[in-house]
Amino acid sequence: MSTAAPEPLKSKKRVGVLISGRGSNMRSLIAAAQARDYPAEIVCVVSNRPEAAGLVAAAAEGIPAVAVDHKHFAAREAFETELDAAFRAHGVDIVACAGFIRKLTAGFVEGWHDAMLNIHPSLLPAYRGLDTHARALADGVKLAGCTVHVVRPELDAGPIIAQAAVPVLEGDTADTLGGRVLEAEHRLYPHALALYASGAAVVEGNHVRLRQDSINQAISLYWPPIA
Ligand code: GRF
Repeated sequence: MSTAAPEPLKSKKRVGVLISGRGSNMRSLIAAAQARDYPAEIVCVVSNRPEAAGLVAAAAEGIPAVAVDHKHFAAREAFETELDAAFRAHGVDIVACAGFIRKLTAGFVEGWHDAMLNIHPSLLPAYRGLDTHARALADGVKLAGCTVHVVRPELDAGPIIAQAAVPVLEGDTADTLGGRVLEAEHRLYPHALALYASGAAVVEGNHVRLRQDSINQAISLYWPPIA
């Protein structure tokens, strides 16, 4: 087996991450993107909350970290114009929402059509919206999980790129289940972004298809085994 370091990819997609809070998914993307053969690089992180812990973490990694405080804008559109400008200024190809908690207008979403991803802590289309883990427990489901999808204007909707499932265990609380799902999120998002940024996964209508010629590559693409 060759031990030579993989060649850095010549055309990595430029990804801007959109956050509101602690940014643990953002950190998983930053970590994954450090691999030379990862098909995307994280070129900026933008938060609508200046106090977001994720901004500090991004800056510590040397990644431009930008606050666009929604409270400074009277209209949602004006806030989004500024968000858009921040991403365009960094030459972003793909916006990756990671714990961004403000509603986006259809105009903004369409401006990033097929170029904006989101991670949601449920197996969509089940449990769109908030409090996903408490609602799953209340329903007595036996599997929970997370989804990375292409963003469409409807809440937590859009072509699904990848999902990961975890068991619901006896005695779970929303916190324990949420922690188990979050671990899965940290593996799933780098995998899904790699599929999408590499072109192995493409939008066709309402679905994401894996290209026939890259299915083997796609299945293994940045999907580290559970430790
Ligand atoms: C994650 O559970 C994500 O799925 C949801 O918000 C949470 C953000 O966590 N959209 P973090 O900021 O990435 O730690």
